Amino acid sequence: MIKSKLALSTAFLLWSVLLWGADLKISWREGKDNLYNHPARLQVTELEKGKPVNGASIFRNEELIGTTDVQGLFTTTALNTAAVKYTLKACIKEQCSDNVTYQVLASEYPFSTFISMGEEPSNSMSFTWQTSEKVKITLVECVRTDDQSGFRSAAVIRCKGTETLKELIDLDKPEGKRYNVTIHKTTVKDLNPDTNYKYRVGDGKYWQEGSFTTAPSSDTNGTVKFLFTADSQESTRENYQANLKAVLNKAFELNPDIRFIAHAGDMVNRGMNGQEWGWFYEAGCSYFMNYPLAPVVGNHETGGLVTTGPQQKNGAFLSYFNNPLNHTGLFAEGSAYSFNYGSAYLLCLDNQNLNDAMELKIKTGEGKYLRAALDWIKKDLQNASQGKRWKIVTMHQPIYGANRDEKELREVLAPIFDSCKVDLVITGHDHYYFRSFPMKYDKIKNEGEVVPIDQFGTVYLIGGSTCKKMYPQKFARPYQAVVMANDLFPGRYPWLRNEVLTLQNYSIFTVNPNELHYRFYDVLGNLKDEVSLNKNL
Ligand SMILES: [Fe+2]
Repeated sequence: MIKSKLALSTAFLLWSVLLWGADLKISWREGKDNLYNHPARLQVTELEKGKPVNGASIFRNEELIGTTDVQGLFTTTALNTAAVKYTLKACIKEQCSDNVTYQVLASEYPFSTFISMGEEPSNSMSFTWQTSEKVKITLVECVRTDDQSGFRSAAVIRCKGTETLKELIDLDKPEGKRYNVTIHKTTVKDLNPDTNYKYRVGDGKYWQEGSFTTAPSSDTNGTVKFLFTADSQESTRENYQANLKAVLNKAFELNPDIRFIAHAGDMVNRGMNGQEWGWFYEAGCSYFMNYPLAPVVGNHETGGLVTTGPQQKNGAFLSYFNNPLNHTGLFAEGSAYSFNYGSAYLLCLDNQNLNDAMELKIKTGEGKYLRAALDWIKKDLQNASQGKRWKIVTMHQPIYGANRDEKELREVLAPIFDSCKVDLVITGHDHYYFRSFPMKYDKIKNEGEVVPIDQFGTVYLIGGSTCKKMYPQKFARPYQAVVMANDLFPGRYPWLRNEVLTLQNYSIFTVNPNELHYRFYDVLGNLKDEVSLNKNL
């Protein structure tokens, strides 16, 4: 019988060892001077003789991540990408070690690295990541993927950024332990349009690497494709793996030319819970590190992380994303923003904040915050979208739907969308799929599927759900073109004629100056709905 010892040279881990019933013992050695060694070096040796074990398989959460070399060593960067719990196991032939559980809490190595839209996506890109509070340096380096010298090239673009200390709540017990992390944010400018780059973020010693492609130049008329998802909120790691990961894998498998991801909010169930953010990140990190994510804040993540000062509005959300700051006044920085991509303009709204402003007006008569927010929305729709053929608004809560549509919000937003000729409003929150007929002045403008520009109104979409929860439809609306919902209560709503939808889902937008083509798929890749909006030149 081969007995092995697994020594893990890293101490960003909080670990526990399962000792009972074990043939093998697992342990690791912490670095003396550097408690956050990275890459992590695992060593597998025979327990009694201390002899290195060549060819031992290393499993992380039962997924094979590599094998040891002749010295019994395996070096990897795969162990601390997301702030989640992992288990490790070493096996050779029939013999396996115990499972070792550890938790990534605060490494000097960057974790939870998201890339976001720069204010001008054709020449800029933004980055956010977290480290232990020890790290006080924020650096990013970008180099064209085709530069053979890589990060040693003289053409490397190097930028510094900002560090913010955050006190995060314990991953498992929100009322319990707290710990500090540094939130790093930076933006790279002066990039070339439509160009592949690789990047690395870190402090100059520990780096996390990824890649991205900038948007096409604003004066080109090519076709761009983006992925739209909504409501990935789950309460377990298993569900994130089974649902969000499966949705992203299928979407990118069938659409390798996706340029970016738009998310309509409610990424997690409890915005204050770092564990859920870790699960969310872990499920999608191979995409989040390599495709810009354009998120809006959902009602489940409006809370602030506890900081050294007062709680920050949308603080949890904003700790993970470095969105453009092209807003004014009411909205928390990075919660409401817009950007142009190809022939489309996207306005990402924080309608949680709008709801607060509306409530304030209703309860106290104080309307200046609501007016300021609406003025900004109108101005941005008129000015920032100039030269773009398609105006798309994304926000969390729907204002036309077949369940919880927001009447008060509709009354203030729909007239703005009408007057500014918004083509499409894409939302989440309701956990079913809904598409309206084109609407104008609260009336159905056109019931056709392909709509000429002169007859066009605004189409309102609710983008389904990537998570376990799928809700039923409650009301049949005159303006509904398509509804697909969960048949949770057969017979309760006999007036409904919706198609049953219980599988997780996603949407693909293909946009060029003449056409906005939208397709809705389930997680198996089955096309469920599609519509083409045309503006012939
Ligand atoms: Fe929601």
